[in-house]
Amino acid sequence: MRRGPGTLYRRLQSVRYLLRRDRAAVVSFLAARWPIDVPLSRRLGIVARFVSTTNHVRAYHSQAQLLRVADRILRLAGRPDLTVVEAGACKGASTAKLSLVTALAGGRLHVFDSFRGMPPNDEPDHVLDGRPVRFRAGAFRGRLAEVRRNVARFGAPEACTFHAGWFADTLPAFAGPVDVALLDVDLASSTRTCLVHLVPRLRPGGILFTQDGHLRNVVAVLGDARFWREQVGVVPPAIDGLGRRKFLAIGPPAAVAAQEAGRNRAS
Ligand SMILES: C[S@@+](CC[C@H](N)C(=O)[O-])C[C@H]1O[C@@H](n2cnc3c(N)ncnc32)[C@H](O)[C@@H]1O
Repeated sequence: MRRGPGTLYRRLQSVRYLLRRDRAAVVSFLAARWPIDVPLSRRLGIVARFVSTTNHVRAYHSQAQLLRVADRILRLAGRPDLTVVEAGACKGASTAKLSLVTALAGGRLHVFDSFRGMPPNDEPDHVLDGRPVRFRAGAFRGRLAEVRRNVARFGAPEACTFHAGWFADTLPAFAGPVDVALLDVDLASSTRTCLVHLVPRLRPGGILFTQDGHLRNVVAVLGDARFWREQVGVVPPAIDGLGRRKFLAIGPPAAVAAQEAGRNRAS
């Protein structure tokens, strides 16, 4: 049986996942409370669109992961200048889903990717169970035109701003606040760049997710207290599930300067 986007196999897999792996996340998305009224029919429509996107576009996430991110975006619906950031778009499946929900919440989605695939790197890695993995230059390539097409078909292109280029070049120029960020970038070096530029911009109530918690090099970055203090400028956050789970959430950590001011006041 043929696999891949657009096949019967893919559609059957989607149904199987909805009934098993992703079921709890779907139920909680349908029942969640948000500051805006989103009727059940609309929620079901969003879930259906997520599934249809996955059926047609090569995707590297589960519906449960994207529904969790969607829930966090909708919890902030109506916030002035609501800003969602995606780092790592590939073919745009996750982008289309995020754009749909960001538009509903009245926000803007900033999409960062090379749109040429992974950068050249020398970062052999291992997944948590010890299997070796390597992300070759150009892997996961989704051209900008292809991503735009997929977002136009399945998402809300009017909510998106695309930032094409290496993160090290595009992220420093991004000046806005960040309410919800989703990182799916695979490399420790890319993760570092994203954290340095995005975490200090997280607003209260904001959150940054990473889908790369299954990679040992990324786990090492996330658990490196010195990196958080010296390069991000924040108190190392406690990350639930670090070293055990692929999908991780990081809330806005206190700035190191604020912690030091607190210590000085107390002494
Ligand atoms: C696994 S794919 C993203 C998958 C997508 N989020 C999904 O769920 O379908 C990783 C993406 O990160 C991008 N990427 C990784 N490091 C990068 C860097 N330093 N600068 C720009 N893009 C980068 C790659 O181009 C690739 O599109």
